[in-house]
Amino acid sequence: MTSQPLALIAELTHRCPLSCGYCSNPLELERASAELPTEIWTRVFAEAADLGVLHAHFTGGEPMSRRDLSELIGAASRAGLYTNLITSGVTLDDRALGALIDAGVDHVQLSFQDSEPATADAIGGYRGGHARKLAAAARVTAAGLPLTANFVVHQSNLHHINEMLSLGDDIGASRIEIAHVQYHGWALKNRARLMPTFAQLEAATAAVEAARERLRGRVVIDYVIPDYFASRPKACMGGWGQRIINVSPGGLAMPCHAAMSLPGLTFPSVRDRSLADIWNNSEVFQLFRAPAFAPESCRGCERLEIDFGGCRCQAHALTGDATRADPVCELAPDHGLIAAALGETASDTVIPRRMTARD
Ligand code: FES
Repeated sequence: MTSQPLALIAELTHRCPLSCGYCSNPLELERASAELPTEIWTRVFAEAADLGVLHAHFTGGEPMSRRDLSELIGAASRAGLYTNLITSGVTLDDRALGALIDAGVDHVQLSFQDSEPATADAIGGYRGGHARKLAAAARVTAAGLPLTANFVVHQSNLHHINEMLSLGDDIGASRIEIAHVQYHGWALKNRARLMPTFAQLEAATAAVEAARERLRGRVVIDYVIPDYFASRPKACMGGWGQRIINVSPGGLAMPCHAAMSLPGLTFPSVRDRSLADIWNNSEVFQLFRAPAFAPESCRGCERLEIDFGGCRCQAHALTGDATRADPVCELAPDHGLIAAALGETASDTVIPRRMTARD
């Protein structure tokens, strides 16, 4: 029996005022004129709730680039979904936040590029952006909304890990997410300049453990290490087609945000199919869904029901074949590719920019 999705990731737009070199946008960006209109998103939120989805994550790109964001949050909220706004915060002024609160936003996740303003602005390619984020954080907590501070870390900013943890606490976040870059899309292209050294990773892990002790009972700290340093893969997205529906700005429904990197797949559109039909019957959601699918070398492995053989997009990115075991697994036939990638880590810390989606 098909499991029930828990979360809808609503990628509202690829437009963004920032240009981080690890951007999760795909390499081919959707133009604003091709984005889903308000009425289709509204139907999608209602269909998601009917399907059993609990959370709607509003992301992009920068979701605040959508002029109808408060209408969309309102539609999701009325449908009974918990609404989480994932934003850079650089345009979250009093008026914008007020409209979102009136619409029923439940939670705000602010992304930070660093704890140091100059480096943060350089990484995001947005002068004054860090100061705007701090102001946005103050507005969110003053309004009584729960705040998560998300720090994306890599070789150029990991030496500030203690300062990032302190900053998250200082701005009143109830949750701090320290997330190492995951290597898809732009981050894969810039991998050699983003990948931390093992020594950096060890120091960061120790800093997180110490902060967890120090902030216990006040702040929850989530810590995501780079897959490449793990001995076993993660159950990416909770398993292909098991927990998550990702809808792109143009309306394509996918089991994960990077699925478009897989060649030869045709993604169903919410413009002409219901979410339930897509989840239960579309070919692409069935393609790598367990238990019918398992990478050949994983069959019989006791961890298959835990990690499903890892990430399909990573398997394709590294081996050219999405059906193979994720090379991150130390038991995978292609595990040697991980050591080779780690060997390419560059000492140069200049991170190339991604391109920016235009209206
Ligand atoms: Fe696509 Fe992991 S990102 S399956």
